[in-house]
Amino acid sequence: MKKLLFMMTAFALSSCDKGLPDRAFVTSPDGRTIVELSTKGDQLTYSVARDQEAIVSPSILGFEFKNMAALFGNMEIVGIDQSGHKSSWEQPWGERRLVHDIHREMLVSLKEKTNGGRLLKIRFRVFDDGLGFRYEFPEQKGITSTVIMNEKTEFQFASDASAWWIPTDATANRYEVIYKNTTLSAVTEAHTPITLKTKEGTYLSLHEAALVNYSGMSLQQTPDGHFEADLSPWANGDKVRTGASFKTPWRTIQISDTAAGLMNSDIILNLNEPNKLGDVSWVEPNKYVGIWWEMHLNVSSWGSGEKHGATTENTKRYIDFAAKYGFKGVLVEGWNIGWDGDWVANGDLFRFTEPYPDYDIEALAAYAQERGVSLVGHNETSGGIDNYEAQMKDGFAMFERLGIAQVKTGYVADIGNIKRINEAGAKVKEHHDGQFMAEHHIKVLKAAAEHKISINSHEPIKDTGLRRTYPNWISREGARGQEYNAWGSPGNPPSHTAILPFTRMLAGPMDFTPGIFSLLDYENNNRVSTTLAKQLALYVVIYSPIQMAADLPENYEKHLDALQFIQDVSTDWEQSIALDGEIGDFVVIARKERGGNDWFMGGLSGENAKNINQSLSFLDQGVTYEAQIYRDGDEGHWDTNPYDYVIEKKEVTRDEILSLKIVPGGGFAVRFVAQK
Ligand code: NOJ
Repeated sequence: MKKLLFMMTAFALSSCDKGLPDRAFVTSPDGRTIVELSTKGDQLTYSVARDQEAIVSPSILGFEFKNMAALFGNMEIVGIDQSGHKSSWEQPWGERRLVHDIHREMLVSLKEKTNGGRLLKIRFRVFDDGLGFRYEFPEQKGITSTVIMNEKTEFQFASDASAWWIPTDATANRYEVIYKNTTLSAVTEAHTPITLKTKEGTYLSLHEAALVNYSGMSLQQTPDGHFEADLSPWANGDKVRTGASFKTPWRTIQISDTAAGLMNSDIILNLNEPNKLGDVSWVEPNKYVGIWWEMHLNVSSWGSGEKHGATTENTKRYIDFAAKYGFKGVLVEGWNIGWDGDWVANGDLFRFTEPYPDYDIEALAAYAQERGVSLVGHNETSGGIDNYEAQMKDGFAMFERLGIAQVKTGYVADIGNIKRINEAGAKVKEHHDGQFMAEHHIKVLKAAAEHKISINSHEPIKDTGLRRTYPNWISREGARGQEYNAWGSPGNPPSHTAILPFTRMLAGPMDFTPGIFSLLDYENNNRVSTTLAKQLALYVVIYSPIQMAADLPENYEKHLDALQFIQDVSTDWEQSIALDGEIGDFVVIARKERGGNDWFMGGLSGENAKNINQSLSFLDQGVTYEAQIYRDGDEGHWDTNPYDYVIEKKEVTRDEILSLKIVPGGGFAVRFVAQK
């Protein structure tokens, strides 16, 4: 990578009163990262360097519009405001209770030299572990609305790198794709977050924060090797429709010296607005079981008839299981009218307040409540948005009346197949990550919040940290989850869950639905490609404040000793620390439960075995713990011996090193119980 010496000129930093500078700089609090904005040569560009080495070379900024001239280059700096910021804020639930927000900010005001002098501001926030920047287009004379046809933001990486990414175009399955690991130069068009390891060993993750009133951004490589923003279009090709003024989401670049360091960053959350819902004490992290995996295994059906899974009797069986083993929720899919026939194509037939006749929702809600359990609602829309929006308020009111506080939503539809009637009365199809859906999800969250309901969206728009602003957005899917192991061809390879923590999980929680104990012999040679111990590790590694114990009750009853870990593990954390890992190879994460003294640690491998010698220095000072270790047996292997697991106990303190072997496709889960 080229060494870059930034000539920090005295004039540029705080005001323009000594004339108009053509560059402005801002550094991270630790001084290692420097971001420069330049208007030199009539080009509006930004660049990023760390330790004086270029990370992003000068890269273009600007827009093309439908209803006015493009805005890039040809601008002058008319104001630079810099400030420092240091605060902490508390999450109602999360990977850690206290989040620290320490950054330096630079707001650059720009004026176009022609076209009547249009104004644009660009706000940068630089943290020790990365940066975000956003465009702010202020209200200005003669402009009442804008249609963005192209955001010209470029990301010109200073050198080639190894990239972990999913393509935007290759599949009908939205973000549910097996990750590719290629050189950066081989990336065509990638969803974010995309994760890079530079030749020098620096880890980068590109994403966006606070995707509100805007379209999702992916990265596209141009024929000349530049990466530029590509916004998901409306049905008619518009990219973003705005009023007189607009703010883009933050374009984020996380920077870390280690792969694990990427996971310890709070940049995405810090760049989102604080909670807008007020008291959210009704949003409850917990664990749930459900009538779900049996449909994916084709043991029962969503639709009515002999195989119908959501019957009163079957639901009682799950409620009894939940009550016996301490699970708080019972998800029931296929409970409502609309699943018969081709439900993927017939989203408009779903009724969100009408149960099938063999599902007595009133009686079941009461049966659950008497046993300290709640039903978890399910609203599959199949992308029929008008149908859902017309009914969702009544649906949420019904759920609230029945004591149902969590709802899993679903948007099963191919890419670009979200159906709606447009303003002109025509049937059109939108994208899962376009502006229409960005707005739809927020409508759902607000309507749900009125009934104290939390939302777990499947086939969602990507996570950009909006759980800070709407804490009832409790989880989502947005990657290949466990279900692919039931019917995917192929299922998830062993490396999948060793890649997710460094890629998709940087965006936020995922409802992966871990905990499958019956790993083999599904239809069409499908199976789960992990050891049983790795299924336990997922509860610590793949963060979600709601975690499913996804397998069938009868399969858990064959391994009650291993089920104990799922019963014990927390889903809400005082602190989380990613300890070690390499992308796709292995990962080790420790988390301390919120409101208690116990720590948990999970580790897992990809295709290869891994010997872990983990310092326990994260444990609390002066406390002795009983380490309850669930690990692979020495002869275990995801392919040939997946059920070989060992459960053992050991006294430890923070001064020790715990040595654990992870077999190929294996894992471990440890509960550290603080001794009184
Ligand atoms: C896809 C979801 O990911 C899955 O969890 C759900 O069971 C089906 N859609 C049906 O809604």
